[in-house]
Amino acid sequence: MKFFVDTAEVDEIRELAATGLVDGVTTNPSLVAKSGRDFTEVIREICEIVDGDVSAEVAATGSDDMVAEGRKLAEIADNVTIKVPLTWDGLKACRALTQSGVSVNVTLCFSANQALLAAKAGATYISPFIGRLDDIGLDGMEVIDEIREIYDNYPDFDTQILAASIRTVNHVKQAAMAGADIATIPPKIVKELVRHPLTDKGLATFLADWQSTGQKIV
Ligand code: G3P
Repeated sequence: MKFFVDTAEVDEIRELAATGLVDGVTTNPSLVAKSGRDFTEVIREICEIVDGDVSAEVAATGSDDMVAEGRKLAEIADNVTIKVPLTWDGLKACRALTQSGVSVNVTLCFSANQALLAAKAGATYISPFIGRLDDIGLDGMEVIDEIREIYDNYPDFDTQILAASIRTVNHVKQAAMAGADIATIPPKIVKELVRHPLTDKGLATFLADWQSTGQKIV
């Protein structure tokens, strides 16, 4: 499974990119607003930090304006992916942009039927929001399972499942078990993935026992 980082904070992206485990970045208007940065500048800087796809979301709601904004954003860097919302206008813009060679991430997906439409529109990525479905008492991971089952029925679908609205390390594990192609993960959750108290305890014991030998490797 590919790991995308879900943030517009360049320092956090740079820190995690140094691990070699970051395959891309997703942003959205809320994350860009939180960064306090100029949209074009922050996307350009993120595209210089990571080689993988970087999602930049349009602000327009009409398909023609979405296409115009998408084409302008795509000029920022070769690894920009255009995010459009899962509306009829977003699907029309997705089709137009993908047919002209632009990578599109269809976002704000909350059902398998929506994901079916996005695949038919030629989306590069579909972003089902797990956490927000859980927030209203539904089962976000069930939607990932349903989309995976549907997409696997149709080999001509090229759309990758990009599990989004990840809130816990269990969401990451469950998304991987469900066969999501990518998880876009907040930096805080990425850092939690590596942690286990028994690893810390075991390493401390190994180091103490090694020190007692008085030996050095180099
Ligand atoms: O990429 C979508 C993600 O940023 C949304 O997460 O926690 O606001 O539902 P959240």
